[in-house]
Amino acid sequence: MIGVFGARTGAEEVEAAGASIAAGWMGLGPQVARFEAALAGRAGQDVVLVDSGSSALHAALVALDLPPGCEVVLPSMTYVACANAVVLAGHRPVFCDVDVETANVDASVIERVLGPRTAAVMVVHYAGRPVAMDDVLALGLPVVEDAAHAVDSWAGDRLCGTLGAVGIWSFDAVKNIATPDGGAVTSAHPAVTEQVRRLRCCGLVGAAHEQDDDGRWWEVEVERPFPRMTPNDVSAAIGLVQLGRLPEHQARRRAIRERYDRELTGLPWLALPPADAPGTRSSDFTYLVRVLDGRRDALARALRVQGIYTTFRYQPLHLTGAFAGAQRGPLPASERLAEEGLNLPLHPALSDADVDRVVAALRAW
Ligand SMILES: Cc1ncc(COP(=O)(O)O)c(C=O)c1O
Repeated sequence: MIGVFGARTGAEEVEAAGASIAAGWMGLGPQVARFEAALAGRAGQDVVLVDSGSSALHAALVALDLPPGCEVVLPSMTYVACANAVVLAGHRPVFCDVDVETANVDASVIERVLGPRTAAVMVVHYAGRPVAMDDVLALGLPVVEDAAHAVDSWAGDRLCGTLGAVGIWSFDAVKNIATPDGGAVTSAHPAVTEQVRRLRCCGLVGAAHEQDDDGRWWEVEVERPFPRMTPNDVSAAIGLVQLGRLPEHQARRRAIRERYDRELTGLPWLALPPADAPGTRSSDFTYLVRVLDGRRDALARALRVQGIYTTFRYQPLHLTGAFAGAQRGPLPASERLAEEGLNLPLHPALSDADVDRVVAALRAW
């Protein structure tokens, strides 16, 4: 089966993970610090690792210190962890729509749902396509950037994740930097990242290994109850290798995207994703097309029979039980995408023959 998402890993990742295990310490240690420093060097600001992108969202929302019970506006068409993070931090999610072409939010859809209790906005750089951040920032609210898909997405020379008050990346097993699991919080405000660094191990401040030998080194302070989000050295060691291979993997993603752009154009029933906006660069995390003839589900099933797995990300959250009713007004583009959208295989582990098969199957449909 040709996978819709995937990662390219090999001997270097195996060796890095093995070295970390052989060193006798697999938990939070020197590899975490090295991976953080490498990410911070490229971001130009502090980066704190945690155990997943979902945890990073939760930690970011907590570290922003918004008023209890306030509202946070975010797209309905996003991963559930985004809305979960808002709730877990003690706030209320309010969903906005996205643009049907880009699947991204813009300032106009956010503005439509702002209310007197709105205290922050969360944007998602869908598929790694940079959201038009200047317009969103001009709304005057703190912006949380979900850059889970966008670890190599650029607006000019500025990296997505570093454009708002706080940003997050995901390093799960199919992201552009793939590890077993991992995530990071980044911010230009030291108070935000320092708080995440303090809280990430259950909120235990001053864990034993951080203390000197005088006094009762086993005593800790609990600043506030917080989940365990501890990053580990094995994942960080793999992440460092993947970071080094990022240019090679990104080039492969871009080549596949360009082939789809070229070879799927002109099919009257298929809308392709738009080109990158001038001055921006997507990380090409996924390739979302729209099937315009009402036969999206039939196409997905036919492709699966041929060994080509596709999917749709993300089912709008306002259509799920837990978050039903959290919108303020209709969200027509999100609902249309839920009927028409289909993610095609796009990742660096695809061979040319895999891409040939996807293109041929779509052209023959
Ligand atoms: C948009 C978005 N945000 C957050 C996450 C959460 O990341 P993780 O899987 O590392 O928890 C994902 C994961 O797929 C995602 O796609």
